[in-house]
Amino acid sequence: MRWIFSLFSFYALAQPESGPGVQVSRRRIDPSCPDADLGELCDEDCFEKWIKCKDGCFSSSCERQCAGEWTDCYRACPCDELCPNGCENCANPICSCKHPENDPYFKQCLKEAGVRLEDCFKSCATNNTCYDGCYDVFDEEKSFCPCMDNCPMGCSCDGGYECQTHVMVLGQGTTYYNDFPNFSYLISADGDFKEKRHYESPLNVEYGYLFGSGHAILRGDVYFFGSIEGQAKKISKLSGCKILNTGTQLVAAFNALYGSLATVSAGTESVILCNGYSTNCESFDGEKSQFISSTQISHRESCMAEFENAPMIIGSYSPSSNRVEILTTSGWQDTAPHLHEIFYHTCLSVSNGVLTIGGYLNDGDERGYTKNVYLFRDDQWAKVGVLQSPFDLASSIHFGENFLVFGGVQTRNVERAMWDGQNVTSSMIINEHGGDCIRPIIFEINLDSCTEGCDDFCYY
Ligand SMILES: *[C@@H]1O[C@H](CO)[C@@H](O)[C@H](O)[C@H]1NC(C)=O
Ligand SMILES: *[C@@H]1O[C@H](CO)[C@@H](O)[C@H](O)[C@H]1NC(C)=O
Ligand SMILES: *[C@@H]1O[C@H](CO)[C@@H](O)[C@H](O)[C@H]1NC(C)=O
Repeated sequence: MRWIFSLFSFYALAQPESGPGVQVSRRRIDPSCPDADLGELCDEDCFEKWIKCKDGCFSSSCERQCAGEWTDCYRACPCDELCPNGCENCANPICSCKHPENDPYFKQCLKEAGVRLEDCFKSCATNNTCYDGCYDVFDEEKSFCPCMDNCPMGCSCDGGYECQTHVMVLGQGTTYYNDFPNFSYLISADGDFKEKRHYESPLNVEYGYLFGSGHAILRGDVYFFGSIEGQAKKISKLSGCKILNTGTQLVAAFNALYGSLATVSAGTESVILCNGYSTNCESFDGEKSQFISSTQISHRESCMAEFENAPMIIGSYSPSSNRVEILTTSGWQDTAPHLHEIFYHTCLSVSNGVLTIGGYLNDGDERGYTKNVYLFRDDQWAKVGVLQSPFDLASSIHFGENFLVFGGVQTRNVERAMWDGQNVTSSMIINEHGGDCIRPIIFEINLDSCTEGCDDFCYY
């Protein structure tokens, strides 16, 4: 019965495209559309993907899904429904192929292939056959760059250059401790590409302007909160490649060593900050910051993450604690305590849960700096993995099936962990920064951002 049904629906689906006398139709692209050529190419690609998808199906639901994907695919092509004016205001990656010479991924792909070509040349010495071989490899690699022969749709293509996420990493040092250098670099999600980038920063002669600042992303803008000494209430913001003091102040002093913060999206998005040396917490909405209800205990050197649109604060150094509180409409409430008294950890929101990464466990057999990762989900905590490095005052960021951890003080490693939604399945050290930093400032950014300027920071 099921077989008959699926056979039937196969015909129902297939007939309009492949019935006798009916052309196997692709979409008709309006030739007067400014990017009709890219539209054609895109449509062809969607069509081929659809054929491949449905050929792999053994059920009508699978075929329906393929058909749905096909529809989503062609609707997003230049000159189709979602992009009626061709590549104007069109998010389709194929539009980067209109002017590949301006596309950062295309340029990066060529640059990386070029570096390998040079290395290859160097290994050849006086052997001309070897030089020719290098060129052949370069030609092949180039053909897999976005918009080239083997990758005509732009980013990313099967077997070709991977157009990955990139993360900016900033840290400013202090003259008090030599271990804390100034750095600002961009790194690819796989860690293979790392390059200096440049920001304009207010000068603070005693310690870096951002030293000890917490950071959070609010409606797409990167904000910096507090610092040390007389600078501990300032709220600053990134504007392009320039760090600006907003002039707005926190109610209470804040620094990233004691305090915790997270962006939460309940109602309008806001940044929640608890300073850790007291039970005071405040909420910054982009305009002003004001006190909200206080936590039950002070959570010093702990961390905060968003859980179900509310802030969750985990652990504490002083008092040493495993307590976990969540902000509800009736104030901060305890939820299941962490498996350990914990501090110096970093935490990260994942689907239906929150992770703690590294930190110091202050009880049990594993007391000390830890490589462990713990997950809060369904009102309970579980150990879900072990990293390579014991992270302390680190920062972490999550995308796709990976999260990256940027070392703070115990280790300067940058580590990438594979997260399958349940467990850390593997983890590797992919890079490092050249010095300590209290909670490195990290945020996703375009590959070609802030390439011009002075070493690390230009101070003004
Ligand atoms: C020159 O390079 C080619 C290709 O790399 C290699 O097969 C060949 O053995 C080399 N010849 C000599 C003399 O080293
Ligand atoms: C970081 O930059 C500041 C400001 O120019 C400078 O005073 C300080 O020496 C730098 N720190 C290091 C470790 O180079
Ligand atoms: C995977 O995670 C679950 C909780 O999400 C935990 O119960 C289980 O022990 C973990 N497995 C491994 C191999 O760590």
